[in-house]
Amino acid sequence: MKGFPDTPKLLSQPTRRRPFYLRWRWLTVFLAAGYFLYCLLFSLSPFAHPLPKHTGPYAVGTIDIEAPVSPPRIIDPTLHFRGKKGDLPFELETVLFSVYYPTTYDQAKTCHHKRHTWIPNPLSLRAQGYAKAAHISNWFTDSIFTTAIRALVGSITIPAAVDVPLSSNITSHRIIIFSHGTVASRTDYSHYAGELASRGYVVVVLEHRDGSGPSSPIKRLGQPDKKRLLFDVSEVEREQDGLSPTVESFHQSQLNFRQAEIEEAVRIMKEISVGNSRQVFKQNPYHEGTQLAGWTGRLNTEGMVVAGHSYGATGAMQALKDGPTEARPFVGAIILDPGKQSGPLNTDINVPMLVVHSNSWSSKTSWFYGRAHFDTVKEIVEDNNKRGYLSWFMTSLGTSHPSITDAPLLEPYLLSFTTGATIDVYQGLRQYVHVAEDFLAFLQDGRIDRGLLAEKAEFPQYDEGSGLGMWKPGQGDNQQAWEEQGEWWDWRSYWQIHVSPLGNKEN
Ligand SMILES: *[C@@H]1O[C@H](CO)[C@@H](O)[C@H](O)[C@H]1NC(C)=O
Repeated sequence: MKGFPDTPKLLSQPTRRRPFYLRWRWLTVFLAAGYFLYCLLFSLSPFAHPLPKHTGPYAVGTIDIEAPVSPPRIIDPTLHFRGKKGDLPFELETVLFSVYYPTTYDQAKTCHHKRHTWIPNPLSLRAQGYAKAAHISNWFTDSIFTTAIRALVGSITIPAAVDVPLSSNITSHRIIIFSHGTVASRTDYSHYAGELASRGYVVVVLEHRDGSGPSSPIKRLGQPDKKRLLFDVSEVEREQDGLSPTVESFHQSQLNFRQAEIEEAVRIMKEISVGNSRQVFKQNPYHEGTQLAGWTGRLNTEGMVVAGHSYGATGAMQALKDGPTEARPFVGAIILDPGKQSGPLNTDINVPMLVVHSNSWSSKTSWFYGRAHFDTVKEIVEDNNKRGYLSWFMTSLGTSHPSITDAPLLEPYLLSFTTGATIDVYQGLRQYVHVAEDFLAFLQDGRIDRGLLAEKAEFPQYDEGSGLGMWKPGQGDNQQAWEEQGEWWDWRSYWQIHVSPLGNKEN
């Protein structure tokens, strides 16, 4: 509900702002205090809810893999950490990811491993990363963060069986490589990834070490772990003059680093597919992957899908450049809330795309290289259709930027309180999963006669007035379709389609 319907929409202009750390500091303190007060007032538990079970026909298995990149790939040789010559922020030594994959319920039951915790060990390193992201990191706040995070989410585990065999029903598993947003990690999208795995897909969720994640240990067998904490442009300097690079070129280095990590993950999945899994297992400091020998010849490594959220969506789009190639064999992309501040979006795309905006991403008009961000995204999708690569662009109503992550499942009150999401959190994620499922099925068989994909674009622009709950079932629709389409018959409650390969709907 909008309080002031007549307020004109302004494009956000660059304004003079208070120093970043001041805003963050107050915001963090204010949010924490406000949240606990809110919980107290409404008798809600501030502690995280357990993650829900997955709903597809398969049980979900998971393994963590970290693999050495040897020799290390130096993505940007001109940059080093401030005052530390030779310490290169953009040197790729290992690649780390979680794999979520389909298994059988019987096999999942026999699993003896402990489940993965949602906050990977060491928890204090993660807490330090969050404190640094909030610009209040020192030994005192770090220990407060550690205590708070342990109390709030420390006991949360990911409901997937660790290191169990791959389901044998599918002959050639489609692989989805997923790239996360800023201040996120390999576990932040576990429910979305697990939902796709429970529908038969192998989902590889990266943990990027490009300085945009809160923290991540870099593990190399036989050597002490390196701590990679979040870092920003002010912490790196150029070899030649000791100055920081421009924000734009820093972001480009981060995106290039992410692309290299994506390529390395592809390489490891190919190694597993051709039967070199013994080597992958032996080099994995997480000691998982005992069942990988059974994956030989069972992965579709020719046609993978790349997906990403926010910064990760910008990175996924970049990974499509000049593609598909052997290093980046992507035949389709799922793009969720492509970045507004992570640099220009790549337009050299030669594969079908599903672009989904959260409600807040579409409703807030943002200035993006001289025009509205929404229009930029829309044009990329339209051009893709013109070149014959079927692509869709739509907004998921009632959702906010983090709706696709696990955060709203863990802390539903906190998330709707701070981000303005109005949709039921489970429903929100389910809608994201349904449309991805239809898109992935389309990549398999080329059919677009399912779900949302079969609809024309009804909203060339996002329409605030037809938001979540404004549409009533049956309105302007064929009621009979309800019988045939089940839950889909009232899709207008949840979606606005901006671009469809079937063109616009005439009113
Ligand atoms: C997998 O295959 C078995 C045996 O053919 C079958 O009973 C089972 O329903 C299949 N599972 C799924 C999720 O398709």
